[in-house]
Amino acid sequence: MRTLLIAGNWKLNPTTVEAASALAEGVKNGLGAATDVHVAIAPPFVFLTQIDGVLSGSPIGLSGQDMYWENSGAFTGEISGPMLVDVGCTHVILGHSERRHGQGETSAQVNAKLKAALGVKLIPIVCIGETKDERLAEQTEAVLLEQLSGSLAGLSPEEMAGVVLAYEPVWAIGTGLTASPEQAQAAHAYIRGWLTQVFGEATAARVVVQYGGSVKPDNAVELLSCPDIDGALVGGAALKAADFLAIIKAGQEVTARGKS
Ligand code: PGA
Repeated sequence: MRTLLIAGNWKLNPTTVEAASALAEGVKNGLGAATDVHVAIAPPFVFLTQIDGVLSGSPIGLSGQDMYWENSGAFTGEISGPMLVDVGCTHVILGHSERRHGQGETSAQVNAKLKAALGVKLIPIVCIGETKDERLAEQTEAVLLEQLSGSLAGLSPEEMAGVVLAYEPVWAIGTGLTASPEQAQAAHAYIRGWLTQVFGEATAARVVVQYGGSVKPDNAVELLSCPDIDGALVGGAALKAADFLAIIKAGQEVTARGKS
């Protein structure tokens, strides 16, 4: 069984470094030294240095929410991979739907960022997922195919094995609507099948594919129990330490029980 990764995407929250540190502290203290599931948090860039200090001595990974594909230069407002590494990051979220749809980010751009992230040994969390209209038009697999082949182009099987994917149906993000375990598992099985075709079975079996979209303490166990769901990318519920810890606990329960 792949080790589950539960990651908290804080997005544009909270608004002060004090509140961010308190949230990180709460997660750190609640988790302790447990490593049966992998855990990471993605605070806003400006809090990363401070939070890296808070997380010192804990197994919690630190993630950027995005990065640029160039390492340095005249790119106003951008943040690079080496900068994330320098402030203690282990992970970086790429191609989140709020960037693909909100900022017009393309799969080709996500691919450039992904290669830059791998170049500095950050663990990338590459997000993919269809909108509500695309699902209603039965375009889910076509959209996933475009996002997978575009975002992951040119990777070797070895590189692919180190990439985390997050299937996040856009209609489920921040809406309180969650994909049913059947809908989520079907999309994850499609993703695993594509990985098998392109990178081979051994690599496909190693890739961690998270589900994201209104994951909460009360739906985490059923989602995480699905055979091809290897963790959760959590937005809203990651902003309360108790809720995020409850989702981690759900992952620990599923891990202890094992899945087929
Ligand atoms: P949500 O966000 O849990 O608030 O739906 C998930 C995400 O955007 O990663």
